[in-house]
Amino acid sequence: MSKPQIRPSTGAEYSRIHGVGGYRPVRVIPNAEVLEWIESSDEWIRTRSGIAERRWAGPEESVAEMSVQAAGKAIAQAGIAPDQIGGVIVATVSHLKQTPAIATEIAERLGCGTAPAFDISAACAGFGYGLGLADGMIRGGSAEYVLVIGVERLSDLTDQSDRSTAFIFGDGAGAAIVGPSDTPGIGKVIWGSDGSQKDVISQTQAWDTAFAKPDAVNGPGESPEQGAKWPALRMEGQTVFRWAVWEMAKVAQQALDAAGITADQLGAFIPHQANMRITDAMIKALKLPDSVPVARDITETGNTSAASIPLAMERMLESGEARSGDLALIIGFGAGLVYAAAVVTLP
Ligand SMILES: CC(C)(COP(=O)(O)OP(=O)(O)OC[C@H]1O[C@@H](n2cnc3c(N)ncnc32)[C@H](O)[C@@H]1OP(=O)(O)O)[C@@H](O)C(=O)NCCC(=O)NCCS
Repeated sequence: MSKPQIRPSTGAEYSRIHGVGGYRPVRVIPNAEVLEWIESSDEWIRTRSGIAERRWAGPEESVAEMSVQAAGKAIAQAGIAPDQIGGVIVATVSHLKQTPAIATEIAERLGCGTAPAFDISAACAGFGYGLGLADGMIRGGSAEYVLVIGVERLSDLTDQSDRSTAFIFGDGAGAAIVGPSDTPGIGKVIWGSDGSQKDVISQTQAWDTAFAKPDAVNGPGESPEQGAKWPALRMEGQTVFRWAVWEMAKVAQQALDAAGITADQLGAFIPHQANMRITDAMIKALKLPDSVPVARDITETGNTSAASIPLAMERMLESGEARSGDLALIIGFGAGLVYAAAVVTLP
């Protein structure tokens, strides 16, 4: 008798982004307000980072709420029903409750049935990581449509007295529906990590050192240790800056090469909104022609980590700077260190 063989799973030949949506918190924090916390100037913040204002979430604007709002817009643009979604991937580093994954609540609230739902932690590369996973799931046949969300409440992890980070971070959510396509809509995702630089951007301390780990006597749920400091994000700005400028332009070029696309064929460049000077340096390194529109959402949104690429994408499409069907180069990079770049067709 011949050995039984497992029937392989096969899916769509290609995938693409069918819809994108964003949510920006109501509260605007202009540089003037940041100057109440740190010694700096509006001019310094603008010239060193490109940021004029950022949005910070209020109590009602939870990670789940912002995600549901952004996803609703992406689903509407894709023109699908929520129960057609066969996977929900939420990229975030600022959902403060570790279990369960916030993706399951989001899937349930959106009406995604029993779709597999999980969180990923890939910082500012989170959206690109999610896109790579979604592309594989769709072409591998494990889902028809996948919802990828990048969402952050970085204000919860910001030390307002830290001059090197207090002005950078913002909150928000961006979402994309990825689904089957007749033509290639997502190029090879060039992604990777460099754990030797794990301390360059990180949380100041783990939760179990920030708070007294309960022992058998205290039991769980005891109050924080005396003098415990709430963990925040810290960053070696110059090291990150140099790494991003030197290494990430190479990764972006690899994504172009893998997709068989040249810079002059792009309809948009949408880098992670980390710092305007990093964006400008990458434009130079890639020899991007002036005719290619570049996402500069950081000016009004700050650095929203996993949310920054889909938020910037939505803004470029809404403003008419980029058009549906155009090719866009996206690249995310951040804490880990991690990165992910790809050429995609805009929805
Ligand atoms: C954070 C960042 C804007 C700081 O800019 P920088 O030019 O590297 O600043 P430095 O830390 O070298 O400090 C330069 C000077 O500015 C001063 N400075 C630092 N923070 C300041 C602030 N908030 N306001 C005013 N002055 C400040 C420093 O004291 C220093 O002064 P000195 O020259 O008199 O000693 C920059 O390093 C950066 O953007 N890095 C990348 C960060 C990033 O993208 N992170 C996200 C990745 S996901």
